[in-house]
Amino acid sequence: MVYIYTVIKIRYNMERTNFKPGTMVYPLPAVLVSCGETPEEYNLITIAWTGTICSDPPMCFISVRPERYSYDIIKRTGEYVINLTTEELARATDWCGCRSGKIFNKWNETGLTPGKAEVVNAPLIIESPVSIECRVKEIIPLGSHHMFISEVVNISVNQKFLNKETGKFSLADAKPLIYSHGYYFGVRKKIGKFGWSVEKKKKKK
Ligand SMILES: Cc1cc2nc3c(=O)[nH]c(=O)nc-3n(C[C@H](O)[C@H](O)[C@H](O)COP(=O)(O)O)c2cc1C
Repeated sequence: MVYIYTVIKIRYNMERTNFKPGTMVYPLPAVLVSCGETPEEYNLITIAWTGTICSDPPMCFISVRPERYSYDIIKRTGEYVINLTTEELARATDWCGCRSGKIFNKWNETGLTPGKAEVVNAPLIIESPVSIECRVKEIIPLGSHHMFISEVVNISVNQKFLNKETGKFSLADAKPLIYSHGYYFGVRKKIGKFGWSVEKKKKKK
């Protein structure tokens, strides 16, 4: 029995190594969050600590370090836009995550264009395929980061990614950007669709 278990362990390389507790939930999207009330104040911050936390009402979060220039802007205005990024936007995404709006006008530096959002005063990024407008509901100080729990008040998408016949939006066509353990990736291969593992096979006629 022990022998069989050892063989299985070696065969499937089941030996494990423990790391000290840290951040390891990957892959994640690397999003560009736009904020600010006036064009003079508009800023961009790259965020990986983000996600959906409720479907109905639709709610998202971002976690931001209080020392970020964007932190005070988002806290004061209570609004921001999560802009999904693409392979084409990878360089700008990294740049906005390495430079502060305290010193740079990130729009001018990256060539990204601020656009008018539908509901919030914060701008969206015209070049982004999906812009998720958020209104802050609660700020939870967690430690290094404070979590902005927010309601999604509008979503706008680039019409380029809408199928002309069906009207269906294809995020895959936008080539979304992924952040995983310090590196950026593109999405590689479609494996299946939601629910495919339990779908009944169609009978052949
Ligand atoms: C891929 C990536 C992900 C990041 N994720 C976060 C994050 O989730 N929260 C955060 O506070 N900072 C994050 N940062 C760092 C900020 O984007 C960075 O400090 C930025 O310069 C802050 O801009 P600001 O000072 O103009 O607000 C990330 C940076 C990169 C490159």
